[in-house]
Amino acid sequence: MSQLEEINGSDLENIRELLSGSGYSDKAITYFLNKTNMGVLPEADQVTELTGHCGDTMKLYLKLEDGRIKDAKIQVLGCPGAIASAMAAMELIRGKTIEEVMEIKDRDIFRMLEEIPDQKQHCIRLTNKTIQKALEEYKNEHYLQGE
Ligand code: FES
Repeated sequence: MSQLEEINGSDLENIRELLSGSGYSDKAITYFLNKTNMGVLPEADQVTELTGHCGDTMKLYLKLEDGRIKDAKIQVLGCPGAIASAMAAMELIRGKTIEEVMEIKDRDIFRMLEEIPDQKQHCIRLTNKTIQKALEEYKNEHYLQGE
């Protein structure tokens, strides 16, 4: 192992310990560190941005096909709770129909994270609000006009 890898490894361990000590589960920490669903979808059918009261911002990119979420990515400018929630939520919504995603509750995202600090519950709320806002915008624009 190179010196750099060792330093990075111990930094990561420190971050894990810090987050674990403040109430994040291992699963939530892994979502935060891996950031697998962070990014942009260049061919997105829907792009929606939302800023929470705390100032954290999420920008969601959805690719839809036959009323289903084919792919989803999200950019997050925010805290570990916001990042972990957003990463988990992308997994949750991918492959689901619009109607199924509209039924998603904050607690469904929480279940995927297993545990985050109480004061970070609003990060989950911001994630779900961004998703629901995106679907509303998409529906208004595509096939629910006039209803
Ligand atoms: Fe704002 Fe986490 S502190 S979303």
